[in-house]
Amino acid sequence: LIEAVNAREILDSRGNPTVEVEVLLDDGIVQRAAVPSGASTGAFEAYELRDGDKSRYSGKGVLKAVAAVVDELGPAIEGVEASEQRIIDEILIETDGTDNKSRTGANAILGVSLAVAKAAADSADLPLFRYLGGPNAHLLPVPLFNVINGGEHADNGIDFQEFFLAPIGAETYGESLRWGTEVYHVLKGELKSAGYNTGLGDEGGFAPDLPSNREGLDFLIRAIEKAGFTPGQDIAVGLDVAATEFYKDGVYTVEGKEWSVDTLVDYFADLVANFPIVTIEDALAEDDWDGWKKLTDAIGSKVQLVGDDLFVTNPKRLQQGIDLGVANSLLVKVNQIGTLSETLDAISLATRSGYTSMLSHRSGETEDTTIADLAVAVNAGQIKTGAPARSERVAKYNQLLRIEEDLGDAAVFAGRSAFPRFKG
Ligand code: PGA
Ligand code: ZN
Repeated sequence: LIEAVNAREILDSRGNPTVEVEVLLDDGIVQRAAVPSGASTGAFEAYELRDGDKSRYSGKGVLKAVAAVVDELGPAIEGVEASEQRIIDEILIETDGTDNKSRTGANAILGVSLAVAKAAADSADLPLFRYLGGPNAHLLPVPLFNVINGGEHADNGIDFQEFFLAPIGAETYGESLRWGTEVYHVLKGELKSAGYNTGLGDEGGFAPDLPSNREGLDFLIRAIEKAGFTPGQDIAVGLDVAATEFYKDGVYTVEGKEWSVDTLVDYFADLVANFPIVTIEDALAEDDWDGWKKLTDAIGSKVQLVGDDLFVTNPKRLQQGIDLGVANSLLVKVNQIGTLSETLDAISLATRSGYTSMLSHRSGETEDTTIADLAVAVNAGQIKTGAPARSERVAKYNQLLRIEEDLGDAAVFAGRSAFPRFKG
């Protein structure tokens, strides 16, 4: 039974305050969870409550959310069995009472929801992935390493936000981690010798001032080859365009020019024809449903098209996309929706509808590794949690190493099978 719930304000990887929640059970178990935070957030995400008090952390403090946990959300679930996750999440949603969790804050609610799951797992003496996923949780995800950062995550001129390495040809998760990391280091050398800055962006990738987005993909391919791997066969590439950030009044501004949707769709089709691209996320803006339909019809059979700002891990928005035949993959960010149960609902809706799911961190992260366990629990087969550098990113990749070791012979690395549409 849940005996007490405590919360505090801690810092995330960008030096911004965030919520940490601690749950105490009557058997003496204590577990905590910390909440991530985005920079290129979708307009339809659940509400992140910040104090707005300019005298502390430029208004970004989360003391109101902390107080909501201590005064309202915690007391509402005290005495409830910790394994009753759905009932608990329902109580949290009702206690908040708004559609987008804006009264107590999705950051407050998520912290409680995740800490409860961890405490329940510990109380059952199970690793989190096993507790959440049951006996069939065994699939290690392909890590999508974001090794070049642009957009809102870096102070460079690259429009696209993320450039991924996807080591789909590895035999094990551990091998995929090594391959991606080796290429990451070679990429640094390549950028350096071409005269580019090798400072890092928010997610640990390099943030060079490249002249074009295409140049980013060229660098990835060169680094893959130079590290001794075959592009497409061993290691594929991918993009998170985060197009909402450069879309305004029906126009996309890319590389200093104004692009129509049709031009942009042709551009992506050309990239997919010329690079071993397994996945493109948020290629178009969050409210450009017509554009998304055109894009999906044009290249959706050849490449994974992921909805992040488009779907915001919300089963209702995902259902809209499924009905319209838009995108073919769901990005899963626990804080976009705010409870574990609703996150699991979004993933199962995706799976039932032939959409793949990619677990995801946020650009503002903590040492919390829940998403690594969640990726294995639901056999998602894919996870993106930044570059193989910076501890808040590496914490998740390292947790997957432990899970792979824990599973032993039962562990299966998703590899190519995680990307059923990829023919390259
Ligand atoms: P965010 O970026 O966490 O800043 O929203 C991640 C993403 O767009 O996938
Ligand atoms: Zn994204």
